Amino acid sequence: MCGIVGYTGCSPAKDILIEGLQRLEYRGYDSAGIALQKDGALTVVHRVGKVEGLAQAVQSLDNDGTCGIGHTRWATHGVPAERNAHPHTSCNGDIAIVHNGIIENFMELRDALEARGHVFSSDTDTEVIAHLIEEAYAGDLYQAVRDACEQIVGAYGLAVVCAQEPGRIVVTRKDSPIVLAHGNGGSYVASDIIAVLDASRDVVVLGDDQFALMDADGIEYRDREGAVIEPKITHVDWDVDVAEKGGYPDFMLKEIHEQPRVVRDTLAGRLTNGALKIDELGLSLEELNLIDRVYVIACGTSYHAGLIAKQLIEGWARIPTEVEVASEFRYRNPIITPSTLVVAVSQSGETADTLAAIRDARIKGAKVFGITNVVGSPVARESDGVIYTKANKEIAVASTKSFLGQVVSLTLLALVLAQSKGKLSVSQIRLLFRELADTAEQIECILSDTSSIEEAAQACKDAHDALFIGRGMGAAICYEGALKLKEISYLHAEAYAAGEMKHGPIALLTPGFPVIVVATQSPVYDKIVSNIQESRARGAMIIAVATEGDEEIAKLADYVMYVPKVRDCFSAITATVPLQLFSRAIAVARGCDVDQPRNLAKSVTVE
Ligand code: AGP
Repeated sequence: MCGIVGYTGCSPAKDILIEGLQRLEYRGYDSAGIALQKDGALTVVHRVGKVEGLAQAVQSLDNDGTCGIGHTRWATHGVPAERNAHPHTSCNGDIAIVHNGIIENFMELRDALEARGHVFSSDTDTEVIAHLIEEAYAGDLYQAVRDACEQIVGAYGLAVVCAQEPGRIVVTRKDSPIVLAHGNGGSYVASDIIAVLDASRDVVVLGDDQFALMDADGIEYRDREGAVIEPKITHVDWDVDVAEKGGYPDFMLKEIHEQPRVVRDTLAGRLTNGALKIDELGLSLEELNLIDRVYVIACGTSYHAGLIAKQLIEGWARIPTEVEVASEFRYRNPIITPSTLVVAVSQSGETADTLAAIRDARIKGAKVFGITNVVGSPVARESDGVIYTKANKEIAVASTKSFLGQVVSLTLLALVLAQSKGKLSVSQIRLLFRELADTAEQIECILSDTSSIEEAAQACKDAHDALFIGRGMGAAICYEGALKLKEISYLHAEAYAAGEMKHGPIALLTPGFPVIVVATQSPVYDKIVSNIQESRARGAMIIAVATEGDEEIAKLADYVMYVPKVRDCFSAITATVPLQLFSRAIAVARGCDVDQPRNLAKSVTVE
């Protein structure tokens, strides 16, 4: 949830750390800090709020130390405040640490340390680590960090500096991401690839319980037992400007406009000689054929991608499919057998609840297939097979392009399952694949003229509440539409299967109440038209997502956001885009921070 960085090299560390933190700000942004090492001393600066505040604070700092660590925070233990900002230090101030994760046994460790005379200056779980290292320190920082890690229980990505060891940073991790790179005159560490790309495109994703000993001339890697190990290098082919807005006012709009490319890249090379293949599934045709139950487990937007997958897998492959909120799935006793396929969907690949649900499913004997956007992420490593959504780095907290990447990947999976079960012929597969690929162009068409979407948004910007209704695929997409509106504009929005309206929610309607209806051409189109009429009868303001050329809807709705005609099974892909733009336009009109909404973070690595 937090972002950590570290640098040791031949250049002053201060600006390099700040730049790295700015790239990681999407991970958490309620406070930030750095520690610079110079002439056998550490200088620590904390600031509440965004990294920009810290950048201003250190601008005038006369410290050209070439080694340091930094942190941007998303509070879990201890309110956002200077005393709780990282880096945290030891009593003697000679040890400084930055941490991403949660220390579960910090209370008992703290009590014991305080009993032994340690004085704490924060309310965080993290600070115990600094004091444990101080206690263990006998001239070898690496050894002291190892000893400290033996005592802590929980998740951590950790970087540590010590006044007595110039130029040395010791790093380790357990369940929280750490990547390292050497190049450009130094060694870099961070919670995410995006903050080390200035060093090199060859990065190392550190494994659990491994250590990295960083110096200006290189990085030594050690395993849990202390043996020196050869790291696995991952070459990153996307470049730093992913981290730039590319001329868009915000990352969310930039990423919405990347979606046609995401659809094309995610489908690239998947259909050969009329047959679809997902080799990454790692399941033979026989094993695929044996699958008799599918669970899609995920959280938030990824869960909504699962709602769409259920309709496709059941519709095409005729396999019973449950979509499960991961935080529920992990605590109930789902029916799992060796012929159960669990599909874990996660943009970040590090959502704690989804990870725990994966572990639970594997213990119960399920095959786990991961769908994630982050190469080498825990979800990828802990699944039997993994498919990467080709969305590239997603910076805006509100998921957009990664969601479409997930929906396209899940659609591919549904087609492959249907193919393996012989439920769809080669020509049907080929036709559906072609129409799926055509959605990229249809999205470009939607993005080419968004005036009707802006208009509808202007009409809703002052509302307090809104309802999203749809049927079938339309219903699944309404949940995503409502979440987007909630999370970036703070307008209270709920989604309902339209048939449910008369069983309660319709009581909410008053004149002018915004009802957003997904009413694209589908087998239940007539039903959704009657739902529109019953809402209109209560004076609601109707905003419809409809299929181009549908004049009837224009007579019924106050605002219409048209999308090109597609087969109903692909309508979630096209209908999502106007709902993303609609939510963003309302958030902008309400002056909200579209990329970094309050109280949220891009990945939720705690339960
Ligand atoms: C969506 O816009 C949010 N960022 C959030 O709901 C997100 O989808 C959820 O936290 C799951 O994240 P994941 O896909 O990285 O696991």
